[in-house]
Amino acid sequence: MCGIIGYVGPDEVVPVLLDGLRRLEYRGYDSAGMAVLGHDEIGILRAAGKLGNLEQKAYHEPLHGKVGIGHTRWATHGAPTEANAHPQTDSGGQVAVVHNGILENYGRLRHELLDAGVELQSDTDTELIAQLLGREEGSLAERVLAVLPRLEGQYAVVAVHQAEPDVVVAFRNGPPLVIGLGEEENLVASDVTALLHRTRRVVYLENGDIAEIRRDALRLLDVSGGEIERAVDTLVWDAARVEKGGYRHFMLKEIFEQPDAIRNTVRAYLDQERRGVNLDGLGFSREELVRLRRIHLVACGTSWHACLVGKFVLEELTGLPTEVDYASEYRYRTPLVGDDVLVIGVTQSGETADTLAAMEMAREAGALLATVCNVRGSSAWRLAPSQILTQAGPEIGVASTKAFTTQLVAMVLIALGLRSARGLADETDAELVSGLQRLPQAVERALAIDDEIFALGTEMLADATDSLYLGRGILYPIALEGALKLKEISYLHAEGYPAGEMKHGPIALLQEGFPVVAVVPGGTNRNKLISNLMEARARGAAVLAVADEDADEIADVADLTLRVPKVHSLLQPVVTVVPLQLLAYHVAVELGLDVDQPRNLAKSVTVE
Ligand code: G6P
Repeated sequence: MCGIIGYVGPDEVVPVLLDGLRRLEYRGYDSAGMAVLGHDEIGILRAAGKLGNLEQKAYHEPLHGKVGIGHTRWATHGAPTEANAHPQTDSGGQVAVVHNGILENYGRLRHELLDAGVELQSDTDTELIAQLLGREEGSLAERVLAVLPRLEGQYAVVAVHQAEPDVVVAFRNGPPLVIGLGEEENLVASDVTALLHRTRRVVYLENGDIAEIRRDALRLLDVSGGEIERAVDTLVWDAARVEKGGYRHFMLKEIFEQPDAIRNTVRAYLDQERRGVNLDGLGFSREELVRLRRIHLVACGTSWHACLVGKFVLEELTGLPTEVDYASEYRYRTPLVGDDVLVIGVTQSGETADTLAAMEMAREAGALLATVCNVRGSSAWRLAPSQILTQAGPEIGVASTKAFTTQLVAMVLIALGLRSARGLADETDAELVSGLQRLPQAVERALAIDDEIFALGTEMLADATDSLYLGRGILYPIALEGALKLKEISYLHAEGYPAGEMKHGPIALLQEGFPVVAVVPGGTNRNKLISNLMEARARGAAVLAVADEDADEIADVADLTLRVPKVHSLLQPVVTVVPLQLLAYHVAVELGLDVDQPRNLAKSVTVE
């Protein structure tokens, strides 16, 4: 979703803003712009499409100044045109605003402004904020205080005012904003990836905070105008991790980072003897854990697939009935949730609006609340009293890979933590701990599949417009995830299904050459799936299988098999998803598509 950057400092601001916007590109966007304070009026440049278009404009119409704001827009109100790109200004051109989020009282505010004779220049809700600020009096922060009560919805806003050429003001309700404290310079951004290369010292704004940012000072106000303090955090992420490091795409780099990401996540939670985990009861008290009867997992997108795997893991290892919900559904139904339920919000970014709302709802209902999250300091991190950090490091590719596999690992770690607190630990735990420690090597082997095999797989998928991904048991969610990966980056239609359901609908799609990707499970499910594949073959389908090394029987039904190592059954999803990620990657590259920034998608979905 929209990327925001603001800068006050000694450097020429245009390159700083463009660089910041480049680092935020991964969030997904369809137009870009910037505002520069400097001379008689605020200089504005905006362009539809990719950042390169804005760079061209900046080259041909140079702006100079040391204070400015920049934005990449993911369209909500109004098409992704230049007129609707941010910054938006008031009619007098005195105030410029960039915004992430949605104003829910957009219609009413728009009519009020039109009735007052304001001539609106765009279809955006953002312009309304600029117009409202322009009609107030006083300093920019005072204007913000006056306008805030009129804004309903979710917003992260950064604004500048011609009359105060050394100030950037930021405020939020919903989508995140983080201030970067530098040497003789300060920045503000929608996420830390835009700041990392300039500073490690950050202040996260809370909802309702207003930040008045100068080159050498930061003043924070609450909604009533009183001065407040916020802690300064030090980032541990390394700036080099948000670079491609020689890989052609971030997605490929992140796929290959999975062994390390898993190793770091496992290590962070193993106890000193490395025989168990240090997540005893996830930090909840004995009484809270005694009351615990059920688990609810809530998430969106790929994280939701991790929850589906988590259900298998948690039910098998803890005996606690576990429900999985899309956060966007959970928040609008009436889930039976109280103090005997552990609700875990699973989110890579920690900023997904629906997941945060579902977590908030659970907290209000008195549930035990935890999060599996990849970003320390994110909103989910700060909301949940119990936090399990996946140590994947920054994930830039929109299609989630290493965050997903570390979420799968987190599910096992959580189950082990609950088992030890509930006195269930036995030899299974030691087996799983040693399986977790060996998992990075297994993933390395899964990554070593020959490119020629992928070339054959790519040929099978890239020429078809549709494909069916089938799995069973704990690998059924991996079929869903494999299909999602393909859809997201190659724009080819792919559907994931539990193999047993094929006969109840999707079989109608099958015909000569129709690709069926089979995610082959172990145990009794294996033969069941092979029978389903026979039925697919009988109708001419081309079968591409992902199977462990022991699954010899698959050779009789599959046209092509991608082999992965066999590991503990509860860890098998981690190694099995790897070739599916690579397959999707190769197909997208073959089709010449933008792997890291697929059309219409956003990395961090901060509106509902
Ligand atoms: C977006 C991303 C997906 C991600 C989902 C949930 O749709 O494109 O890759 O899985 O959001 O994000 P989260 O940060 O909550 O895991």
